[in-house]
Amino acid sequence: MLKTSHHLERLEVSFEVFGGVAVVQTLHHPLRIGRVLTGNEVALAMTRAPKRRTVANAIVEAVRDFRNLKTPDVEPVPDDVRIDGKTCLVTGANCGLGRAAAIELARRGGNMILACRPGHDETCDEIREASGSETVEMLEVDLADVRSVHRCCDEMQRRGIRISIALMNAGLMTPTARETPQGYDTMFAVHFLSKRVMIDRWLQDGVIRPAEPGGEPPRIVFVSSESHRSADAIEFDHLGEYAEYGIKESMRHYGLSKLLLSTYATELSRRLNPSGTTDVAVHALCPGGVSTRIARDAPALLKPIVNPVLRLFFRSPEKAIAPITYLCCAPEAGTSTGMYLHLMNRKPVSDSAANPDNGAKLWEDSEAMVARSRDAT
Ligand SMILES: NC(=O)c1ccc[n+]([C@@H]2O[C@H](COP(=O)([O-])OP(=O)(O)OC[C@H]3O[C@@H](n4cnc5c(N)ncnc54)[C@H](OP(=O)(O)O)[C@@H]3O)[C@@H](O)[C@H]2O)c1
Repeated sequence: MLKTSHHLERLEVSFEVFGGVAVVQTLHHPLRIGRVLTGNEVALAMTRAPKRRTVANAIVEAVRDFRNLKTPDVEPVPDDVRIDGKTCLVTGANCGLGRAAAIELARRGGNMILACRPGHDETCDEIREASGSETVEMLEVDLADVRSVHRCCDEMQRRGIRISIALMNAGLMTPTARETPQGYDTMFAVHFLSKRVMIDRWLQDGVIRPAEPGGEPPRIVFVSSESHRSADAIEFDHLGEYAEYGIKESMRHYGLSKLLLSTYATELSRRLNPSGTTDVAVHALCPGGVSTRIARDAPALLKPIVNPVLRLFFRSPEKAIAPITYLCCAPEAGTSTGMYLHLMNRKPVSDSAANPDNGAKLWEDSEAMVARSRDAT
């Protein structure tokens, strides 16, 4: 049995065993799915790992990050840092990280809007009870359907809602391609397009307003993933095109959708803060491996292995929200923009996501999809 110092290594690799069989295949290491790796096996896998940018390589890098973590760059936000009266919207707040983050923001005094899929009526009461706050309400939205995104934005506009902190958390890992009502891949729509559409609307409708001189900037925080580093370059000629894929390709598409998100987040930060002062603080993060329901769509055969591994070895959402709390609440994260945290460490996003040409092209090439989304309503 391994000592505590190896636990994180085991977790990261085990988790990704669900995400992609590729881990096992590409490391050229005869590991069976479901067997927990020992520390030596992880180390061996790391030395054998190919240098090219593959999903497996990114995972190996993530394991190395864990091994090399020394001192966090940023400190957990003390409990007495409050956000009283600030309106906070959290997408995907009914479970996992989003739920834990919503409770934390409510505890600190935020007026909460939970933007969740229909069918989570109990969530508001649960979050009220867990946080002791009464100012918690639900707005229904299905981020895989841009018509639903527009309906949600219409309601926010009609009610004159103004957001101080938007936590764009909702996400999923589909085991195979899944087409949305508008003909996009679901991970593309949920991780990238719906955020683009929603934030465009918020800025147009005044739901998010850049800070006045001397005022406090609103914050937009994206939950991305280190898997964005392993993605192939964005194929702009095929942006948004739906293509079938199976389980072996699922992790690749997850990584690609997170690359689109990280590229968009970086570009949004540039565009909203052109003068060098922070008018809207735009940040992103990867929480590391967290025991949530992200693996809920794992093939039935793998679930008896994956779920206990997640529960036993991954961090709880309550612990894993530390970087979210930092970016949403820490005073210093409100006066800067473009920060990316992996756990509690600052990192640059990948070169591809940071590249301004990619950011501008993604912005321009997705304009037509944003315009079409209005026609779909
Ligand atoms: N868990 C990890 O190890 C890990 C690592 C890196 C990054 N992340 C990221 O963390 C974020 C939160 O995931 P999690 O781990 O907390 O997983 P989770 O427990 O499965 O929570 C995901 C949330 O997203 C919501 N969601 C999914 N599709 C949606 C849609 N079409 N419309 C609206 N909401 C939707 C889910 O709602 P329903 O319950 O209705 O489906 C749920 O509330 C994701 O962006 C994920 O990519 C997670």
